[in-house]
Amino acid sequence: MYLSREEDAICRGERGETLRRMMEILVALGDIYGAERLVPVRSVQIAGVSYKNIGEAGLEWISDLEGQVAVPSILNPAGMDLCRWKEMGISEGFASRQQATIDAYRRLGITIDCTCAPYQIYDSLASPGDHLAWSESSAVSYANSVIGARTNREGGPSALAAALVGKTALFGYHLDQNRSPTYIVKVDADLCGSDYGALGFLVGRIVKDGIPLFRLKCRPVPDELKSLGAAMAASGSVALYYVEGATPKPPGETEPGERIVLERRDIDEVYENHPGSEADIVALGCPHCSLSELREIARLLRGRKVQREMWVCTARKIAEACPDVVAAIEASGARVFCDTCMVVSPATEDFKKMMVNSGKALVYLPGLGGVRAGLGSTKECIDAALGRQ
Ligand code: F3S
Repeated sequence: MYLSREEDAICRGERGETLRRMMEILVALGDIYGAERLVPVRSVQIAGVSYKNIGEAGLEWISDLEGQVAVPSILNPAGMDLCRWKEMGISEGFASRQQATIDAYRRLGITIDCTCAPYQIYDSLASPGDHLAWSESSAVSYANSVIGARTNREGGPSALAAALVGKTALFGYHLDQNRSPTYIVKVDADLCGSDYGALGFLVGRIVKDGIPLFRLKCRPVPDELKSLGAAMAASGSVALYYVEGATPKPPGETEPGERIVLERRDIDEVYENHPGSEADIVALGCPHCSLSELREIARLLRGRKVQREMWVCTARKIAEACPDVVAAIEASGARVFCDTCMVVSPATEDFKKMMVNSGKALVYLPGLGGVRAGLGSTKECIDAALGRQ
């Protein structure tokens, strides 16, 4: 891989041991994937934040680094609400190691916003055509597909390397030639809300790491695109998709040969195969809730009391922007937790079955959290929490 004189100097350790190690990671990835050179990134989103996932070895690795990030950098959800962790049932021991992890990231100049939907709180992180180094799979999918920026799915160490160097290796989804659709997906159904998570659940399993181009009867709103991309990234490893009339267009005019046709009954089967009955917790906010999703949840809960545990996950900045909406949700007995989520927090392991409105959580919960999962619309989830089902 070509390196500029300055990049070469970093490789030789002329700007310190941390940058040398970070450059080593970027160059190794670039060599493996045939990158011609490095490219500057506009922002970085770093996974590997929950102490549940990284453990003591990960914390030591981060704590060992020195210096400051070169570009705006933000974190993925942590293993707990950084303020209300006791209410989640998190132990003192876990909380202190999680806080040490956050402090280690803070020392590197990383912004302590822990969210998988950074685009919901900062417009400045990504614009069409920008090169990024984002980690979390739903954020990667949204950045590539809805914003029209360019990022591979970075691992925690490679994202941190990109943050400290300010660059990433130019390969994969950074290049037009790897951004053409590989499947046409025609959906003969009117879809709404969680239907997009169910659709993503199905399509990800079929296309795996392919690039689907959707022809839909209806035009999804950004929250629905967020849900669709998150589910496909979980059930497959889709990092880029297109929806005609709703996302930026693919490069070139060539139509993929592979075709998939789905109907309403295919979507309905996802719900039927994953009923929410017997759930002892309802959790919404995978990916993290937007302001409009919080408002909708508050509207559905207004004047009512939940009969079982209900969590709503969002970014702290979103919650702080609408204290009245958060208060309306919490007046029902549901709790709005920030900085964390139902999958990366160990707190959810205390429950047997979780009802969600998210195709992504439906895939990940049984594997990561060890909790059975059922799928419903937002209204069905809230009805379950209210004891109406
Ligand atoms: Fe976000 Fe956690 Fe879901 S990181 S996409 S809320 S699994």
